[in-house]
Amino acid sequence: MTERYSTLSHLECPKCGARLDATVVQGTCDCGSPLLARYDLDAARGMSPAGRAPTLWRYHEVLPVSAESAVVSLGEGMTPLLPLPVHGKRIGVPDLWMKDEGLVPTGSFKARGAAVGVSRAAELGVRGIAMPTNGNAGAAWALYAARAGLRSLIAMPVDAPVITRAECVAAGAELYLVDGLISHAGALIRKALASRPDYQDVSTLKEPYRIEGKKTMGYEIVEQSGRRAPDVLLYPTGGGVGLIGIHKALDEMRELGWLTPETRLVAVQAEGCRPIVDAWEAGAAESVAPAAPTTIAFGINVPKPLGDFLILRALAETEGTAVAVTDEELLAAQRELAADEGAFVCPEGAACFAALIRLRESGWLRGDERVVVLNTGSGVKYPDTVRVDVPTISADGALPDPA
Ligand SMILES: Cc1ncc(COP(=O)(O)O)c(C=O)c1O
Ligand SMILES: [Zn+2]
Repeated sequence: MTERYSTLSHLECPKCGARLDATVVQGTCDCGSPLLARYDLDAARGMSPAGRAPTLWRYHEVLPVSAESAVVSLGEGMTPLLPLPVHGKRIGVPDLWMKDEGLVPTGSFKARGAAVGVSRAAELGVRGIAMPTNGNAGAAWALYAARAGLRSLIAMPVDAPVITRAECVAAGAELYLVDGLISHAGALIRKALASRPDYQDVSTLKEPYRIEGKKTMGYEIVEQSGRRAPDVLLYPTGGGVGLIGIHKALDEMRELGWLTPETRLVAVQAEGCRPIVDAWEAGAAESVAPAAPTTIAFGINVPKPLGDFLILRALAETEGTAVAVTDEELLAAQRELAADEGAFVCPEGAACFAALIRLRESGWLRGDERVVVLNTGSGVKYPDTVRVDVPTISADGALPDPA
C-alpha cells in the first residue's frame, strides 16, 4: 500500500517545460500553455484500486486532492463499459464497446472534471469559480461548486442544451446566456473576473485539474478490461480535455507498470466545426478557427481549443487520426444504436458511432480490432434531437390494427 493519498509533485508546462508549484492556485503557464499535473509515480506504483469504492477516487494516488476529507463527490465514476455486439456486427466492428458516461451525476462526463477540479480548488482556498461553457460543463461545475460551498459564475451560449440552464439555476449559480459562441462567453468571463478577485477562472484547460478528473476514464477502461487497453478509442472532441486526459492516463499507466499496449486515439468532430480534423489533415501543429461553426452536437462546437497542440500531439504519438461526420450521419447513428442496443447516447457520442462507419469503409480500422467509443453523455439531456412523428389518438379512440 502507498502511504500518501495523493502523490502529486508539481505542475509542468508541456510547451516550454517550466515547472510550477502545485500547492498554490495556478492557471496557465506564462507562455500561455495549459499546465499538466505530475506525480511521483514511483510512490504510486503500489496503487491497487480493486476492492475500493466504485468511484473515480479509487485512483486517488494519481489525483491531485491531498486527503480523503477534501474530496467533494456525488458518486462519480466507474461507469459501465458495455459490449455492443449487435451494432458492432452490423457495422463490421464485432469487438465494439462503449464507455457510457450518461450514467454519472449530471448526466455527462463533465462531472469527472468538476469533481476533481472543484475538490482541488476548494482545498487550495478558492471561494468561487467562473467559466464559459457549452452547457454540460457549466451544469456540472455549478452543482459540484454548490456541494463544496463555492459560488459559481457561468456564461453559456443561448443555443446550449436548455436543461443545463436549469441545472445551473437550481444549483444557485450566477448564470448568463450569451448571444454567441463559447469563445464569446469566454471573453465575457475574462472581463468579469477583473472585478472578482476571489473567483478562479476554470475555463477549459485554464486550470490544471479538470483534465485529471477526465483522465480517470482511461484508467477505468483499462481496469475494466483486465488491464488490457483497446486497440482504438474514439472520442468526441471539442476542447479535447478528455482525449488529452486519456492520453495522459495511458502514459502514466505505462510508467506505473500496468500493461497497456498502444491505443490509437481518434478525435471525432462534426463537419460544421472541424478545426482539429483540418489541422490534422494539413499536418499543422495548431488549429485555425472556422468562420461560422455550427453543429447539433453542441458540446463539440468549439472553434479554437486552447489545447489544440496537445490533441494533435496525442493523435500523432498514438498513430491515431481525426474524422468529421455530418449532423445527418450522427443523428442516424444515434437512432440506430438505440434501436440495436437500447443505448440512447448524446449527439456527441453518436458522432463517434458515425465515424466508425467511415473508418471501416476507408480501411483505417480493421474488423478484428477492439474498439471503445466514449459516449460522453446521456441522450436524455437532448430531448429535441430525435424527431418524433407519431399519431395522437383521442381518449375514446382505438389504436390501428397492426400493419
Ligand atoms: C456531451 C459532450 N461531449 C463532448 C464534449 C467535448 O469535450 P472535450 O472538451 O473534452 O473535448 C462536451 C463538451 O461540452 C460535451 O458536453
Ligand atoms: Zn510554458
